Amino acid sequence: MNYLETIKFGSNKLKKNKIDSHILDSELLLSFVLKLSREQILLNLDSDIKKKNFKKFKKFLSRREKKEPMAYIIKKKEFWKNSFYVNKDVLIPRPETELIVEEVLNNINNSSSKNLLEIGTGSGCIIISIIKERPNCFSTAIDISKKALNIAKINAKLHHLKNKINFINIDIDKFNLNKYDFVISNPPYIKKFNLRRLGKNVSLFEPHVALEAGTDGLREIKKIIKKSKKLLKKNGKLIFEIGEHQSKFVQKILSENGYYINNVIKDLSSIPRVIVSTKII
Ligand SMILES: C[S@@+](CC[C@H](N)C(=O)[O-])C[C@H]1O[C@@H](n2cnc3c(N)ncnc32)[C@H](O)[C@@H]1O
Repeated sequence: MNYLETIKFGSNKLKKNKIDSHILDSELLLSFVLKLSREQILLNLDSDIKKKNFKKFKKFLSRREKKEPMAYIIKKKEFWKNSFYVNKDVLIPRPETELIVEEVLNNINNSSSKNLLEIGTGSGCIIISIIKERPNCFSTAIDISKKALNIAKINAKLHHLKNKINFINIDIDKFNLNKYDFVISNPPYIKKFNLRRLGKNVSLFEPHVALEAGTDGLREIKKIIKKSKKLLKKNGKLIFEIGEHQSKFVQKILSENGYYINNVIKDLSSIPRVIVSTKII
């Protein structure tokens, strides 16, 4: 079988399983198996695939047929300007979360040395993307999941920032170290009963500790708002992601807790997604 026939074979199987991106996914799986770029594959469509590699390809294909996200199969995801190692221990970085990076960068000069805390770092994609562009900043990143933190450390090493970020395995409830200019977070914010409504690819494969936040979906956001009052310096900024339909409630909680709301940023689907606020009391 040549590369073109292999791609068609994979694409047909995925199409039968109602996977919209069946052609692209089949190409990416082949490029992952052959350790060649997608371009190299497409330029050599009549090359033959070795039996051993076809076997591997079918193994990955069957995982994708069961709706496992591509990022977990090929073990990487692009976020902001970088590529991150991911596995089932961490949430797959989402494009809308890049809004947090953009906002933090807008608020820090190239050469300034602010003190940053990230709550729930997961793969480390947010803090690593920021520190790559603002290397004079100091940063701490915490996560309740030890396994997630290990992945964040791997990514920090891959991006040569191992000694620049202080990773701590701790629940935000128990964290009391230092004062920060910025607290940033993409917390879990899905209502418990909505978890199963998420697509199979999310609910079956991504870690529930990264998604679920009680019956109202606000459990972790409330903790972050309250705790950040202690962790932020006066006029420090709290910048975090929220879920659909949460903007009004969250703005109310922020105001009640002495924050000024600077900006609510919408994502590409016009959903209010990131709130930038300042601790004024
Ligand atoms: C939505 S994920 C975000 C991961 C990553 N920052 C991103 O944006 O892709 C939330 C993260 O918060 C962590 N987490 C959940 N509850 C926490 C808590 N109480 N204290 C600290 N981290 C928590 C989870 O383990 C998970 O890694």
